[in-house]
Amino acid sequence: MNKNFYITTPIYYPSGKPHMGHAYSSIVADIFARFKRLENYNVLFLTGTDEHGQKIQKEAKKNNKDPKIFCDELSETFKSLTKILNLSNNDFIRTTEKRHHKSVIEIWNRLVESGDIYLDKYSGWYSVSDEAFYDEDEIENINQKKVSKSSGSTVEWVEEESYFFKLSSWSNKLLEFYNTNPNFILPTSRKNEVVKFVEKGLKDLSISRTSFKWGIPVPKNEKHVIYVWLDALTNYISALNFPDIKDKKFKDFWPADIHIIGKDILRFHAVFWPAFLLAAKLPLPKKVFGHGWILSDDKKMSKSLGNILDPIEIIDKYGVDQLRYYLVKEVSLGNDGSISMENLKNCINNDLANNYGNLCQRVFSFIKKNCDNKIPKSSTLDNLDKKLLDNLRNNIPKLINLMNKQDLNEYIKMVVNFSFEANKYFNDSEPWAIKKKKPERMKTILHTIVQQIKNITILLSPIIPNATDKVFSIMNLSNENITIDKINDDNFINYEKKLDNLEILFNKIENDN
Ligand code: MSP
Repeated sequence: MNKNFYITTPIYYPSGKPHMGHAYSSIVADIFARFKRLENYNVLFLTGTDEHGQKIQKEAKKNNKDPKIFCDELSETFKSLTKILNLSNNDFIRTTEKRHHKSVIEIWNRLVESGDIYLDKYSGWYSVSDEAFYDEDEIENINQKKVSKSSGSTVEWVEEESYFFKLSSWSNKLLEFYNTNPNFILPTSRKNEVVKFVEKGLKDLSISRTSFKWGIPVPKNEKHVIYVWLDALTNYISALNFPDIKDKKFKDFWPADIHIIGKDILRFHAVFWPAFLLAAKLPLPKKVFGHGWILSDDKKMSKSLGNILDPIEIIDKYGVDQLRYYLVKEVSLGNDGSISMENLKNCINNDLANNYGNLCQRVFSFIKKNCDNKIPKSSTLDNLDKKLLDNLRNNIPKLINLMNKQDLNEYIKMVVNFSFEANKYFNDSEPWAIKKKKPERMKTILHTIVQQIKNITILLSPIIPNATDKVFSIMNLSNENITIDKINDDNFINYEKKLDNLEILFNKIENDN
């Protein structure tokens, strides 16, 4: 069985500081990457920055900076965000790197070779902010300004010489591909949008610009720079050492298992990217998942509405696991979802502090006081104990399946419920009431509940890795050996060593905080 898994985030425009939308795409991808590692896969998780194009050139100019220096600085803030968000990415690619340049040139040459590129003139609408061309029926007039219907960003009229990619000739091949690979575009509602768009018939795509310089020059005609999306999408194979297709990395990891992206950039990933790859005679990625938008108090976050929630500010105040957990618990992956500070606090208090945090805290404190701080080992589990453990264990195939179809919300719901049940089991079994009369029974209860804490902690580790690492280390377990099959392994617990010191996992948040 192929045990390699390649997952990517979009590469971000370093045109301003990172915001919640960027954090969201990255956190979601990180959770799936970590889960696949739990499943014992050799995971390659890629993220990075998309540094060419008119948008970046304009932004650099506004800041009076050379575009490369501007990108060097801002790309650093995105790199440091990977640390702040506790991402487990193995690589961080920048489109201004040599390895990427080489790979984009090869893609271009392959498209020339296949006869898919021709020179003509583009006249039409362009949005610098989206770096996208729009048709007449995709724009509207708002306050005497022409804007894109889908993104709301301003468009301008562009007329320039341009190379075109024969996208129109790939419509049927794409439809055939969607048909034979029904899970290529998820969620399904998004797939239907894409299919409709392609069924209408595709127009050839302008893939070079001449009105600015900040990009990769077209081979043999340096007046043109390569369209930033053709440049950017190629990052996914540049990181695998393309054009060296004999390289182990390329062989092991291409085609990608999943591209995680926002719904606004689905067309680029589900139409343009596969068409480029088909023309370049390269295999297509297995899945593109388009998540929804994060809304703030029901509105799209925007500078003008003043409702932007800054991920770094929230992390500084409440902690990174708290933000990670809240975003994926509250927002149904695939749909738009509103977030608010009020809900964030409730979620931290209810699910993290009162439920999972409290479970760990009270069980470990009890063991410290009553069992010389060592986890008791027992083999005399009664039906109630077995039922608690089996209920989780029997659900492992279901949990794995949920994660593999990106049903993150259902997965979390189930795991939170296990934690709730474990708290109830501990309350109902009252080990404190029997510690003198039935010390052996007390030990069995503790043995059982610690097993269950270990199991819940394994399941939560892709989502709240900081807290779960703490719990593993309290139990003297190294997080490197943690895999999903340890859930079935009673002997994975260290019964010999004393528990490490216990710190509070999640502080409860008071209302005025
Ligand atoms: N550079 C391109 C991607 C190239 S990938 C080959 C780009 N960059 S971006 O910085 O504008 O956006 C990156 C991601 O952030 C997109 O997936 C986008 O959907 C996501 N988000 C930006 N704002 C968002 C929200 N408010 N909510 C959720 N995600 C959104 O596009």
